[in-house]
Amino acid sequence: MRPEAPELLANFVLTETLAVGGAATVWRAHEVNTGLPVALKRLHPALAHVAEVRDAFAHECLLLKTLGAPHVPQWLAQDTECSLPWVAMQFCEAKSWSDESLSLHDEPTLCVRMMALCDALEALHTLRDAQGPLGAVHRDLCPANVLVSESHVVLVDLGLATSRLRPRGPDALSHATLGYASPERYTGEGPLDLRADLWALGVMAWQSLAQKRLYVGDKFGVAGAIVDHPVPDVRVQNSSVSEAMSELIASLVARDVHARPASAIAVREALARVLRG
Ligand SMILES: Nc1ncnc2c1ncn2[C@@H]1O[C@H](COP(=O)(O)OP(=O)(O)O)[C@@H](O)[C@H]1O
Ligand SMILES: [Mg+2]
Repeated sequence: MRPEAPELLANFVLTETLAVGGAATVWRAHEVNTGLPVALKRLHPALAHVAEVRDAFAHECLLLKTLGAPHVPQWLAQDTECSLPWVAMQFCEAKSWSDESLSLHDEPTLCVRMMALCDALEALHTLRDAQGPLGAVHRDLCPANVLVSESHVVLVDLGLATSRLRPRGPDALSHATLGYASPERYTGEGPLDLRADLWALGVMAWQSLAQKRLYVGDKFGVAGAIVDHPVPDVRVQNSSVSEAMSELIASLVARDVHARPASAIAVREALARVLRG
């Protein structure tokens, strides 16, 4: 969607809408002086006065700025005090994991992309400030929030993330992408920590190799399936998947949080072993 005339916002010219989400619109833009391609995320006018939404957005911007490239788009500028809070970041010339997933079904390619995604998750999960670890969790890891290019993988959308600075965060279950929330987020049984992101990573891997969605249906049906049914072995869908890879995916989508790997870096190491064969 193009605005009737390009809009000037601070140092940026907004040219077209990239995506309209629940809380914000992401614009394609460029910097006036340099022409640098920019993605600019701005809260919807109808929500921009809601304190809760503004706080969540300020937290998203803080995590984006602190984490930095190459794991997330490079933060460029923000104004979270104005009437329509916004953040500008470098535009990533990449497709989303959802668009790319058809080409991610071969195991070695998937392993390499997952390793890069593990690096980004590990960087997020181990963020610190002067007071110590932030304990950040993304909470909306899904194919639309991962941008994949030939050379790297970038995590976007920290809007539902929690951390020590914002422990509760927005109600992620009602806003998060359906089909990627881990069982403990529905049942309240078990800690809600970085292993929720590892569950989502497992769902994404399963779907890439199976070439189909794991959970389809309305939100009640999907919630029931996530909570009640173990994830089937991916090799039932794709017999060429190695035993090591199917075991790794099974551990990521273990319903018991404690049966999952302890960190993204542990998953990265397991992926390296899968790749070595
Ligand atoms: N820096 C960026 N470069 C390129 N595309 C981006 C960038 N940031 C976001 N996008 C695109 O915009 C979409 C929506 O952005 P996101 O932050 O996920 O917003 P929402 O909270 O509305 O889901 C993403 O799925 C991605 O396709
Ligand atoms: Mg998103």
